[in-house]
Amino acid sequence: MSVFDLECNGHRIGYEDSQKHTLPVIFIHGFPFNRTMWQPQYDFLKETHRVIIYDLPGFGKSTPLKEAASISAFADDLIQFMRTLKIEKAVVAGLSMGGYILLNAVERYPECFSAIVLSDTQCLADSKENAQKRYDTILKIEKEGLENFAMEFLENVFSEDTKKEKKELTALMKQVIQENSIEAICDALKAMAERKETCSGLKRIPIPALILCGEEDSLTPVARSEFLFSNMSNAELHTIKKAGHLPNLEQPDEFNDRLHNFISDIIL
Ligand code: MLT
Repeated sequence: MSVFDLECNGHRIGYEDSQKHTLPVIFIHGFPFNRTMWQPQYDFLKETHRVIIYDLPGFGKSTPLKEAASISAFADDLIQFMRTLKIEKAVVAGLSMGGYILLNAVERYPECFSAIVLSDTQCLADSKENAQKRYDTILKIEKEGLENFAMEFLENVFSEDTKKEKKELTALMKQVIQENSIEAICDALKAMAERKETCSGLKRIPIPALILCGEEDSLTPVARSEFLFSNMSNAELHTIKKAGHLPNLEQPDEFNDRLHNFISDIIL
């Protein structure tokens, strides 16, 4: 059994750990999902690597932070989680909001990372308009609950091919969203609306970075990944065809191949 639950940083964290004695690879999920969005990567890497997928504070099986949620607080929590597991350094992957958290953590705790994977993410802060949209969404969710929110969010997540050929993904991710609490989702919306940019620190990241992005991502378009790539000194960028915002689920084979090639070259 590889599912665990530990007390860390004043709250409980739910996670899966393949517990191999090899290079640790930790995955941070995107908004508004939970660790299970990384299941294809966990299953693919678990025989060869120490793979850890965990639920962010308030999501899935993790309880909320004692302090107010923020992207910095989520980044601090990741580092506390690594310290509790006695992991000094890891390869860490983050998708979208997971990438916001990862870039924040790399800026403040560079010594904890041997390489990073940034999928469908960006370094920009929210514009005033975007932040306002998130506050409006909070009010709507508080009034209506998660059902409409989940459907509206998922309309923009997948590529055209995924919508036609992998209809089960929409149903699956709708269920994942609705299993989260309203509080967790609203706290994360506020945290994203108030996050700081991380673009100005990109040039100071010396470690290898793999940047992946679905070609049809409309939430964090490829241009955002190209911007990351052109501002980092040790990065590679690959776009993934027939994928939108969740290429790890939409095209898992290609995503896993890219991941595997990248981490094969990383030494702790
Ligand atoms: C995510 O997938 O984590 C979110 O779409 C990110 C965002 O809303 O900025």
